[in-house]
Amino acid sequence: MTAGTMLYEGKAKKIFSTGDPDRVLQYFKDDATAFNAQKRGTIVEKGIINNKVSERLFRLLEQNGVPTHFVERKSDREMLTKKVAIVPVEVVVRNVVAGSLAKRLGLKEGDPIQPAIVEWYYKNDALGDPLIADEHIRLLKLATPEQMAEIKRLALKTNGLLQPFFAERRMILVDFKLEFGLHHGQLILADEISPDTCRFWDQTTKESMDKDRFRKDLGRIEEAYQEVLKRVCG
Ligand code: TMP
Ligand code: ASP
Repeated sequence: MTAGTMLYEGKAKKIFSTGDPDRVLQYFKDDATAFNAQKRGTIVEKGIINNKVSERLFRLLEQNGVPTHFVERKSDREMLTKKVAIVPVEVVVRNVVAGSLAKRLGLKEGDPIQPAIVEWYYKNDALGDPLIADEHIRLLKLATPEQMAEIKRLALKTNGLLQPFFAERRMILVDFKLEFGLHHGQLILADEISPDTCRFWDQTTKESMDKDRFRKDLGRIEEAYQEVLKRVCG
């Protein structure tokens, strides 16, 4: 597919215009960053894997009543999506204690969280994506309280669909990050859902099968991404 002009370049993706003002093309790169891009690297074929895994998960969600920006996968690294205005709030859903939650609150990594919790982070690289409360979202006018209620409902519904999907594939969905956008006034799920934006642990070994292998220098990064692709799309 011939892409138009580049509208935006993020850390892991580029966004291009298309002939249709209502559609954009997401191009998935192999570039990996962590700790607000202080750490940089490449994960070979990550772009292809994240594109295919995202396609599978967006299809699952769409089929079950979660609206997403997914239209069609165009090639190994390209996904056609609805054009949205991103709500600058990163939505994190947690089923198991890990990562920044363990660190911030001194909780034990691996402890179950029931029911799942939803957190908001301000999507702002200059500030390092800080954790924020509903009141900060109102103060910064990032979204209305009604929009945040809908985002929370969709995030928990997404969790309810993804958790059993991964369990069937012998994976624990520890936590994940979602981004939402507005498309003709409707809130829809955007961005990607991939080993870059989720924590997956193997059900038996509890080994990380996601970007934590890069963040923490655990080795066998490509192998883990390929295994996720195999279990999700194979
Ligand atoms: P955290 O424990 O570091 O806050 O991460 C929670 C989840 O969000 C985890 O699944 C990884 C994902 N995540 C992103 O997708 N992008 C980010 O920039 C960060 C910090 C986390
Ligand atoms: N995407 C983030 C960054 O580089 C970090 C992460 O996923 O841990 O900044």
